Amino acid sequence: MKLSAKLLKALNKQINMELASGYLYRSMSHDMKNLALNGYAKWLDKQYEEEREHAFKIISYVEDRDGVVDFDSVEGVKKHYDKPLDAAKDSLAHEEKVSASIRDLFKLAREEGDIETEVFLQWFITEQIEEEVNARDNVAGFEKAKDCEGLLFMFDAHLGGR
Ligand SMILES: [Fe+2]
Ligand SMILES: [Fe+2]
Repeated sequence: MKLSAKLLKALNKQINMELASGYLYRSMSHDMKNLALNGYAKWLDKQYEEEREHAFKIISYVEDRDGVVDFDSVEGVKKHYDKPLDAAKDSLAHEEKVSASIRDLFKLAREEGDIETEVFLQWFITEQIEEEVNARDNVAGFEKAKDCEGLLFMFDAHLGGR
């Protein structure tokens, strides 16, 4: 069965969103490096790699289903971060948006009667639970460390172990 035009368009949109996520995390990692938060920077670099993998997974899937991927322009990052807590909060908000988008994609696959895409998307639904937990943990960690340089140093070192 061929992917429906609607579903193909939505999968293309998701590919773009994953690439934009990677772009956002790499930019955040750059800002953290400039704040000498090398642990969080490393954590964000790993996240960049993950987002790239997410995009690749969907690209390969579309290829397997004989669909065409449109490599659209990726949205730029408009913001610089001078506090890790702000980056962590924006990451959480971003991942919540991604989860909502995956959920919509899943519902669309169901509407279109595309069982294969439903099964494919299950991995992403589980992955988003992990992404939100990680993002929430980072907000909590930087929240605790926001008034204490020593705690910040420790939490940053902890993140560097990812
Ligand atoms: Fe992702
Ligand atoms: Fe992940």
